Amino acid sequence: MSDVIISIRDVNKFYGEGAAKQQVLHDINLDITHGEFISIVGTSGSGKTTLLNIIGGLDRRYKGTCIVDGNPVEKMNERRLSRLRNETIGFIFQNFNLMEHLTAWENVALSSYFIGTNIPLGEEFKRASDVLERVGLKDKILSHPANLSGGQKQRVAIARALFNKPKILLCDEPTGNLDSKTGEDVIQFFKDLNREEKITLLVITHEDRVSKATDRSVHIEDGHIISIDSKDAPVK
Ligand SMILES: Nc1ncnc2c1ncn2[C@@H]1O[C@H](COP(=O)(O)OP(=O)(O)OP(=O)(O)O)[C@@H](O)[C@H]1O
Ligand SMILES: [Mg+2]
Repeated sequence: MSDVIISIRDVNKFYGEGAAKQQVLHDINLDITHGEFISIVGTSGSGKTTLLNIIGGLDRRYKGTCIVDGNPVEKMNERRLSRLRNETIGFIFQNFNLMEHLTAWENVALSSYFIGTNIPLGEEFKRASDVLERVGLKDKILSHPANLSGGQKQRVAIARALFNKPKILLCDEPTGNLDSKTGEDVIQFFKDLNREEKITLLVITHEDRVSKATDRSVHIEDGHIISIDSKDAPVK
């Protein structure tokens, strides 16, 4: 099926060695289509971040197959993998992972220093400012994270993830540290992004209001997919 953008087949993941070896993902199979807005739900320690890291090419020590935008993640060389990570995927991490000594715009544009994007030299500031404006932080472009609220830091992290215009956005608890109003705004922003730009969005969440906003919810318990709920229940 050509409209599948992420295809996970028989993925098993272990941590540790010998007696300490622990299986944290069991036979995960999942297809995600282009433009889908999907949530991963499960209790703490169930394996959500582990799965997201595999999809994002951050962890390749697993068994099975993970194909992202046509690329078999476990088989790619480092150069191709980092291109995939930087050009196709945007990450929003569980903690914001912002660099404290950089300003908001520098945090947003940071990835281009590492990867040499196709953004012309000198245009990083303009592009970073534009994305920061989109997430409502026009007046914080020159602020450091220490002077931003939790919700504002989260929006800087979102802007950073969008900087390279990714096809896929992977978000680990994007509303976990936000008050309910700011959380609502982020959910609405994701919905708009998904609808208007057809970005495929994968969101890990503990929150019902987030999973309810998505097209499908994948429930994980103890490293197993136990169910997948679809918002569009089959019409009979
Ligand atoms: N680097 C690691 N080394 C060893 N075990 C790990 C490592 N990272 C995670 N684990 C274990 O793997 C399991 C799954 O962890 P994971 O971080 O994927 O959970 P999670 O569902 O994201 O939880 P949370 O909601 O608390 O973020 C847990 O039992 C955890 O202790
Ligand atoms: Mg986690």
